[in-house]
Amino acid sequence: MAPVEDVAPPLFERFLASVLKPAGLICYCYYYLLITFLQWPLLAFQDLQAFRHRAFSRVWGKVGAELSQQLEGNTFDMLKTASGVVLDVGPGTGEILCRLDPALITKAYGVEPAVDMHPALQKNINKAGLAGKYEIVSCGAEPATLIPALDKLALLKTEGRSNEGVFDTILCIRVLCSVSNQQDTVNELYRLLKPGGRLIVCEHIASPWPGRASVVTWILQKLWILAGWNVLMGGCKLNRDTVGALEAAGGGDRKGWKKIDIGYWETWHPIPFVVGELVKI
Ligand SMILES: C[S@@+](CC[C@H](N)C(=O)[O-])C[C@H]1O[C@@H](n2cnc3c(N)ncnc32)[C@H](O)[C@@H]1O
Repeated sequence: MAPVEDVAPPLFERFLASVLKPAGLICYCYYYLLITFLQWPLLAFQDLQAFRHRAFSRVWGKVGAELSQQLEGNTFDMLKTASGVVLDVGPGTGEILCRLDPALITKAYGVEPAVDMHPALQKNINKAGLAGKYEIVSCGAEPATLIPALDKLALLKTEGRSNEGVFDTILCIRVLCSVSNQQDTVNELYRLLKPGGRLIVCEHIASPWPGRASVVTWILQKLWILAGWNVLMGGCKLNRDTVGALEAAGGGDRKGWKKIDIGYWETWHPIPFVVGELVKI
């Protein structure tokens, strides 16, 4: 693990970031869930997941660009090095695509189940100079939907299997909080990586208390969950042990990785992050 490089800001800024910003986000979510429900009342009963994606697309359309100006740690530096055949898991509206270097990318696939985000995503693909290289794939990252979609694109060497690896780089930026059955999904992403392939992550995690975080931030995180975060935010869960899931992929106990270089960020915040890369053996 990379050493912890957390510098807590002054108390007032911490209050703003820990209380006011998440409160604003939750209010947006309540508002857009209501508006979406009023516009498409049946969708919530017919397809709850599609309803959540539609509501969250509107929230992300409002806040995504601003929340992407600055990402934790060295995320932008790592994104600049993404190369070869790339899988971008949950690209949303593509706010981070401008951080990639198109010259290093042979082909990229953005797996985005929220179809309402696709038009904005396509715009950002074009803006980032990735037109013709970056393909939007309309499905979730869970194996049950991802594998058939990749198979349809003729990306899997053996039908329905992915053991030899397909991707040189997989990007998981603020998305593993939202996939259902995280461990199965991460295991499959591991299988989809080529040997020596890199998984680049920037993910928020369960408050690491006791250990790295204080009990205050742990309690604050629980309060945001109680306020409805885990239900409202398009499936985003605040309390996931994503590092544990990543380390366990590929046989468990970090054995599947040649290198794990992950640092903890903002452990003073109720929504702390891990940022780094894992390289497959
Ligand atoms: C917080 S946004 C982050 C978008 C982008 N990765 C970024 O950092 O700018 C989370 C994205 O994950 C997508 N998402 C949610 N559930 C998903 C799933 N099961 N598989 C793939 N993407 C998913 C959402 O639709 C949304 O676009």
